[in-house]
Amino acid sequence: MTTISPGTEVTFDIHVSDHRVPDAERAQILAAPKFGSVFTDHMVTLRWTAERGWHGGKLEPYGPFTLDPATQVFHYAQEIFEGLKSYRQTGGSVAGFRLRANAARFNSSARRMAMPELPEDAFIRAIEVLVTQDRQWVPDGEGRSLYLRPFMIATQVGLGINQPSQAYLFALIASPAGAYFTGGIKPVSVWLSQEYTRAAPGGTGETKCGGNYAGSFAGQQQALNNGCDQVVWLDATERRWVEEMGGMNLFFVYGTGQDARIMTPALTGTLLPGVTRDSLLTLGRDLGYQVEEGKISAEDWRARGGDGARAEGLARGAARARPPAGAGGSGPPGPRRGRRTCVSPSPKMGAPGGWRPVGRRAPRAGSGRGRSFFFFTKSPTGAGRNTNISFKKTTAPAE
Ligand SMILES: Cc1ncc(COP(=O)(O)O)c(C=O)c1O
Repeated sequence: MTTISPGTEVTFDIHVSDHRVPDAERAQILAAPKFGSVFTDHMVTLRWTAERGWHGGKLEPYGPFTLDPATQVFHYAQEIFEGLKSYRQTGGSVAGFRLRANAARFNSSARRMAMPELPEDAFIRAIEVLVTQDRQWVPDGEGRSLYLRPFMIATQVGLGINQPSQAYLFALIASPAGAYFTGGIKPVSVWLSQEYTRAAPGGTGETKCGGNYAGSFAGQQQALNNGCDQVVWLDATERRWVEEMGGMNLFFVYGTGQDARIMTPALTGTLLPGVTRDSLLTLGRDLGYQVEEGKISAEDWRARGGDGARAEGLARGAARARPPAGAGGSGPPGPRRGRRTCVSPSPKMGAPGGWRPVGRRAPRAGSGRGRSFFFFTKSPTGAGRNTNISFKKTTAPAE
């Protein structure tokens, strides 16, 4: 057993599993990894108490926790998490994408949920320890990665709610992930939720806490029940402004060529400040595009979809990346509140490395309205990867 210190008082003792998945079985899993369903041989755990601070850091075999039924997380949902990826590089080394940005967001979530912050170096060291031990689990190949899921739960036992828990468990698990798009990129259909909202001003919308997701499932279920892939959330006050989609931030590209303008909902406190969102905005600005954070109304989304001014809608997040934003379907172009808005998958692939038109709305019979193309940025090295995002342009194909 060795002890690794991240340069703070936080250290990780290494306990290597003696029942690791055999090489042949792992190779089979890595050949077609299914997101979030299989986990690597090990996990990292670290505990916090009011008396001792962070202590007891360990790399240990992946396995279940034993928790008292009165553990606070089960009752009051004091829980936060992160989602990020590491990638196999050319030459075999492994690299993580913007780990520090996720470490900072984890601590921002911790502050909002009255939980202890974890030193960023300890967050990053935990990832290094796990990925180093389980590096054979980092898949090779286009669009593949090792998805990392750090999380923290309240572990104090007891049902009192006079103060936040005085004990916490931080853990890190990892799961191999495949390319999100297999067999080509397909547009998704979206359900614009009217009945439910995801987050209200002053709430926890910008926090990556489990409760936000628990509250979202009814809307997502409604989307599925209505034949759509994803739910899109509107603001809770006016039910008018587009916020985000499922587990992804939304982007719209208006115009084409030199006039192209990238637009995304501003961070109002009710949506998650995505690391991918920040990366796309930074790259867009660096490449000289007009980039804007602001308000996008559902009406505008629909109207622009109809007049052809909106060239593209896309959704990005570390876990997945999709051309979303179905416009059209059974009604006028664009998403509709509480209505099914679907896109007919009609992929037309463009030149490699450029913007790629991936689908178009099926115009309503007799409506004479609308072309609405969806494009997706596909990097030369793989769709859905956060690295090497390309912002090249192409012209919308003639209808
Ligand atoms: C609600 C929500 N919005 C946006 C995102 C995208 O964030 P990121 O780019 O950091 O993965 C996620 C994914 O974590 C999410 O869960």
